[in-house]
Amino acid sequence: MNSPPVLPPHIAVANHKGGIGKSFLTQSLAVAAAEIGHRVLVVDMDAQGNITRRLQAQVPADPAERAAASLYAVLSNPARGEAARILTPCGYGGIYTDRIMIAPADLDLELLALTAGQPAAERRLLRALTGVVADFDLVLIDCPPSLLNHQIDLAWTASDYVFMPCEAEFDAVQSARRIKERILRDSHKLNEELRIGGIIVNRYRNISVHKKRVEEMERISGPGGVCPVKIPEIAVLKDMSEYARPIAESGSQGRNMASLLRDVYEWTRTRITDLEKAA
Ligand SMILES: Nc1ncnc2c1ncn2[C@@H]1O[C@H](COP(=O)(O)OP(=O)(O)OP(=O)(O)O)[C@@H](O)[C@H]1O
Ligand SMILES: [Mg+2]
Repeated sequence: MNSPPVLPPHIAVANHKGGIGKSFLTQSLAVAAAEIGHRVLVVDMDAQGNITRRLQAQVPADPAERAAASLYAVLSNPARGEAARILTPCGYGGIYTDRIMIAPADLDLELLALTAGQPAAERRLLRALTGVVADFDLVLIDCPPSLLNHQIDLAWTASDYVFMPCEAEFDAVQSARRIKERILRDSHKLNEELRIGGIIVNRYRNISVHKKRVEEMERISGPGGVCPVKIPEIAVLKDMSEYARPIAESGSQGRNMASLLRDVYEWTRTRITDLEKAA
C-alpha cells in the first residue's frame, strides 16, 4: 500500500498590526529557502498584493486579465487543486524563478468576504491548494493586517503554523497576543491542527525596553518560540520591497543580510521539526 504523500509545512505569516514586516518576512523566507535549494509556493492572501509585486510575480498588465489570473478568481468557487491554473514564477530570474512560485493577489480578494457565509467558505483556499503543493518544500501564506476577517480564516484553515514577525514595541506585542488568543479560541472551528510556530523579532535594537518586550514575546510563543536571530532595522533591508529584488543583490551589506535571513529560515525549520516531535 502506498503511504500518503508528505506535504510541505504550510506557514501563515501573520500579525494583527500593520506595517510590521509580514510581507518582508514572507519575501525573506521565500528567498532564503530558494537560496538553499528549496522550492517554495507563496500565497498572497492580502488584497494589497505587496508580496505579489515584491516577488515580481509574472501577472498580466491588463487589469481585467490580471484579476482573472489572481486568487480571487480561483477562490470564488474553487475546484480541488484549482490554484494550479494561476501559479506564476517569481520574476527575479535564476534560482529564484526556478524555485519560487506565487499565487498572486489582486484588489478583488477583499470581495471574498461577501461570500463568507456560504457553507465551508473558509475551506476554499485549502481546497484550491489540494494536490498542488506536493512539488514544494514550503508553502508561505502572506496574511493581511487583520484578525477577524475572512482572508485570515482562509489562510489559517490552510496552514499548519502561524509565524509572526513582531517589533519589540508595546502595541506590536499586544497584536501578537491577540493572534494567539484567536488561535486558542477559534482553531477548533477553523483548523484543529493549527499551532503558533513562533515569533521573529523585527527592527530589534539592543536596548532595555526591547529586551523586556522580547521576554513578553517568549511568554506568548512558549519556550524556544522566539527566533534567537533578531532582525535589525537597516536601510538596505528596504531594498527588497522598494526594488522588488533579493537582498543578496544589494552589495556586501546585502549579502550579510541574506546570510542572516537564511539563519532565520533555518530556525523556522528547526522549530517546526521540534514542534512535530513534541506533538
Ligand atoms: N528590518 C527592517 N529594516 C528595514 N526596513 C524594513 C524592515 N522590516 C520591514 N521593513 C520595511 O517596512 C515596510 C513595511 O513592511 P511590510 O510591508 O513587510 O509590512 P507588513 O506587515 O506586510 O505591512 P501590511 O500590514 O501593510 O501588510 C516595508 O517597506 C519593508 O521593506
Ligand atoms: Mg504585508
